[in-house]
Amino acid sequence: MYYFDSFLVRSFAYFTIKDRLPQILTRVIDTLHRHKNEFFEEHGEKGIEAEKNTISILSKLRNELQTDKPLVPLDDKLPDVPLWNQYLEYQQNLLDGNEQPSWFQSPWLYVECYMYRRIHEALVHNPPIDDYDVFKEAKIESFFESQQAIIALCTYLQEHLKNIEDLDEKQLQEELFKLLQVSLWGNKCDLSISAGEDNSQKASPLKSLDNLKTLILVDDMESIWSLLINSKKRRTSIEVTRVDIVLDNAGYELITDLILADFLLSSKLVTEIHFHGKCIPWYVSDTTKQDFNWTIKQLQSANNRWMSRCGMNWEGSIKKGVLVYHDHIFWTLPHEFCSMAQVATDLYTELQKSHLIIFKGDLNYRKLTGDRKWEFTVPFHQALNKFHPAPLCSLRTLKSDVQVGLKPGQGEQFVTSEPDWMICGKYGVVQFDASL
Ligand code: F6P
Ligand code: MG
Repeated sequence: MYYFDSFLVRSFAYFTIKDRLPQILTRVIDTLHRHKNEFFEEHGEKGIEAEKNTISILSKLRNELQTDKPLVPLDDKLPDVPLWNQYLEYQQNLLDGNEQPSWFQSPWLYVECYMYRRIHEALVHNPPIDDYDVFKEAKIESFFESQQAIIALCTYLQEHLKNIEDLDEKQLQEELFKLLQVSLWGNKCDLSISAGEDNSQKASPLKSLDNLKTLILVDDMESIWSLLINSKKRRTSIEVTRVDIVLDNAGYELITDLILADFLLSSKLVTEIHFHGKCIPWYVSDTTKQDFNWTIKQLQSANNRWMSRCGMNWEGSIKKGVLVYHDHIFWTLPHEFCSMAQVATDLYTELQKSHLIIFKGDLNYRKLTGDRKWEFTVPFHQALNKFHPAPLCSLRTLKSDVQVGLKPGQGEQFVTSEPDWMICGKYGVVQFDASL
């Protein structure tokens, strides 16, 4: 089974390395340039100097990428450096003799992750702007672009929470399915696939669910329901049911995840939600701790009363310890998840405490399945390659060339009718794996 290679001309991987990544780098350079005055105001001449140095490192990085130079080891002082450099060595050992891994001659997943880490390295080398998030502006903008959709969701949640205690099982199940789908389609809104362009949620998210239903290629929502309702019924008053959500994008998608989390807690289907975010800015719009805190604050102080009520509730749940935010360097390594037990044993052990882990988004799906060229019909369980910390599911819209667990003929039918079905974000999966 092969990785998706970036050097396969005309593949999405090739297009990403050739066009989309340089475009993202150009935007990063432009962002730094536009914030020059801010750096000056905060740090004086030192800020300007750091901005200039960072831009020059990033321009060099773009040139290395475009001219297919060898990938070089990382050399900052962050704790993940040894793991990154071992990974590079491993790639080197896969090649013949004196060949060196380069941008177009390495697996796509690795090269793409490597670029984001090199962007971070450029900043780390340049205090006082070393903790500046070059994607923050785009994330904030996309949050505000989705404002109407966010209000619609907060209003819906607050109105439905009023009588949540009175819902019978069937109604509870319907609500769960609705909010799982909202969270699934929230994954359309990432800023990596759009190379940083606005990609926010404009339409009302709840009204479109029925029309989108046929676009869910794998729908395991029933299994998720059974797991949660059975655990609720069996639970004694001192026991915990824990769901972990491995977050993807900030902005609208994060709101959909928080709404789902709130519903799971309020309905008592679960008693604890653990979120997992990124330690460094990643794939443009991925959620960091700063984004998470900013989002909750933003809601709390919003003019709309449903939004602010959601913000207050979530802040309260964080204080009570029933909503917990974690981050870990593993999420911003290039490693596939089947290596987590060896590479990040502490994280694997933490995830083993969960009753259900929800992996949001496309990049997590690629890492779950090792970004291999699997046949479409290969079972999800097999593609996970022994990664089974707990029952898990993926809520993901298709934005890259990997998909498993389809029925015979299901994938093939698109190959001629809709050649870009795997990369356009139109289709989604709610894919579950129970076995340990
Ligand atoms: O190529 C599109 C892409 O950059 C993929 O590499 C990546 O999987 C995806 O966008 C990010 O999407 P998501 O935010 O859903 O992980
Ligand atoms: Mg993302």
